[in-house]
Amino acid sequence: MNSYQSPIDHTFGRPPPAGIRTALVGGGAGGIGAATALALVRTGHRVVLAGRTAGRLAATASTLGDSADYIVCDLADPAAVTDAVAEVHNRHGSLDVVVANAGGPALGRVLNVPDEQWHRDLDLLLLGPLALMRAALPAMAARGFGRVIVLTSTAVRQPQPQLATSTVLRSAMTAAAKLVAREYATDAVTVNCVAPGATLTPRRLEVLRGQAAAKGMNLDDTMTGDNADIPAKRAANPAEVAAAVAFLASPEAAYVNGTTLTVDGGRTEYPL
Ligand SMILES: NC(=O)c1ccc[n+]([C@@H]2O[C@H](COP(=O)([O-])OP(=O)(O)OC[C@H]3O[C@@H](n4cnc5c(N)ncnc54)[C@H](OP(=O)(O)O)[C@@H]3O)[C@@H](O)[C@H]2O)c1
Repeated sequence: MNSYQSPIDHTFGRPPPAGIRTALVGGGAGGIGAATALALVRTGHRVVLAGRTAGRLAATASTLGDSADYIVCDLADPAAVTDAVAEVHNRHGSLDVVVANAGGPALGRVLNVPDEQWHRDLDLLLLGPLALMRAALPAMAARGFGRVIVLTSTAVRQPQPQLATSTVLRSAMTAAAKLVAREYATDAVTVNCVAPGATLTPRRLEVLRGQAAAKGMNLDDTMTGDNADIPAKRAANPAEVAAAVAFLASPEAAYVNGTTLTVDGGRTEYPL
């Protein structure tokens, strides 16, 4: 008989509700969202992908087996986001994990971005994710378990001149996530951000193409130069960002709240 008693209490806050947990993954048809959906399926979640293109969502969901379905939803549209959360509840009875992720904003320097673009990117990067939280958090709090993970960018730690709306509006989103985290902390609900650096997805190619055009360079040389600037000398595989999201979604991350986890191969220079 093993009589050893661990001196450490291995429970993580309040235990999660019994049964399979359901995750809503924004931008789930491709890139970091699709990799996150796979990581969450592999860690035992049922996953609902959200995105704007039914065909792409269906194709990605089919690679994830019976644990995945999808909802067509523009995550920059607060009304559509509210409906999507209600639909997840209708289909599956609860929603335990929300991954607030979509595409990136337009490129542009801070004084060159037209006001219309600021408004569009505000919807995408701040008001859409806030609507997602507003819709999902009360039921999470009532169940006594919830995880919200917002995909942002290392631009919140190291401003990127060519990505002004990303830098400014994601900094605002980071502050908002902190405030929401504090409001729901006693309900065993956590709200955190994951800030990716360069990650090999269609979005990275879009950003590099923009930089190449601005400098009059070709894409290959721009990518080689950018990789050389990363201490790891490469961009992330999307699965490496997804692993950070999956950790924050886990019961074991119960005491990680209101913070930003940077996944950038060591690139960000700011030490905190
Ligand atoms: N990749 C990088 O190097 C990098 C670095 C830092 C930050 N990020 C940020 O991380 C997030 C994910 O990046 P990613 O590289 O995976 O981007 P991605 O390759 O462009 O994929 C974005 C996904 O989101 C969906 N999407 C776009 N706009 C949407 C909207 N309004 N509503 C719902 N779905 C939407 C897209 O599908 P549909 O178009 O079919 O809807 C696509 O499936 C973005 O915010 C990006 O800016 C990326």
